[in-house]
Amino acid sequence: MSNKVTVLGSLNVDTILRIPRLPQPGETLKMDDIGVAGGGKGANQAISAARSKSHVTFIGGVGNDVQGEMMLKLLKEDGININNVAKLNEGTGQAFILLQESGENSIVIYGGANQAIKTTVIQNAMNDIKDSDFLVAQFETPLEVTNEAFKLARELNVKTILNPAPATDILDELKKNIDLIIPNETEAELLTGIKVVDEDTCRQAADKLIDQGINNVIITLGKQGAYYKTKDGVCELVPAFKVKAIDTTAAGDTFIGALVSKLDTSFSNLREAIIYASKASSLAVQRLGAIPSIPYKDDVEKQLNSK
Ligand code: RIB
Ligand code: NA
Repeated sequence: MSNKVTVLGSLNVDTILRIPRLPQPGETLKMDDIGVAGGGKGANQAISAARSKSHVTFIGGVGNDVQGEMMLKLLKEDGININNVAKLNEGTGQAFILLQESGENSIVIYGGANQAIKTTVIQNAMNDIKDSDFLVAQFETPLEVTNEAFKLARELNVKTILNPAPATDILDELKKNIDLIIPNETEAELLTGIKVVDEDTCRQAADKLIDQGINNVIITLGKQGAYYKTKDGVCELVPAFKVKAIDTTAAGDTFIGALVSKLDTSFSNLREAIIYASKASSLAVQRLGAIPSIPYKDDVEKQLNSK
């Protein structure tokens, strides 16, 4: 089985600054290392899906600059359809990732072309959306474009998956057109007002989202794993694989791209898909950088089979 997946999302060139700790205001701090890698939540999720053997179409925007060329090349290398990536008069998106020795990271984002796309990209991509099993989006592209895409997907009977990241609490129009929502604990709290700390609070938060008309919920909990609940009441906390993380950038994105590649369109195999996706993200956190760290299906399956 291989799914057809359309990802609406961001393309960022990530500059990773390895620092011992965050500088104080007014302080000058030496960094340990600097690196550049492809990233952006949209690109990461699309490439994760492609490396798990989905057929992927990307909808987004880049500028007329070297960063844009780099991102288009990366998408192409993974066999992703880039016909719906608009070339705009804004700079290509960039992220500056402050990666501390402790493993924690802080990210500063320049939205650029990601934030400049218009709803016309959705109308132009109509045939590709129509031909997809799933449409996936995050919150690094304009909300009105996501609204338009999810409305169209619903009309065309294409299943929609929202990763509400980075965190924001605006779901109003969108929520009636979401089939599966995948927040992390911070995003889940912002959307529901419930502080998610354990299985019980996960259930409460998931119920709130289900009450708002979203039939399937997965809350990702980092090291603790992922909790899922469906409208039919099926729920479980699936534990994460224990590994030593060196860079968690794109761990959540890797999870989502891998998950959507395993899912069936009736969401009846959430548990199996979560186990596969958790394994994929456990591999991603052991490598530096976003796109370079995303594993391929063969690696993930080999690791899953080696007990
Ligand atoms: O989710 C990780 C991504 O967030 C990074 O690749 C960075 O580009 C930011 O968008
Ligand atoms: Na990584």
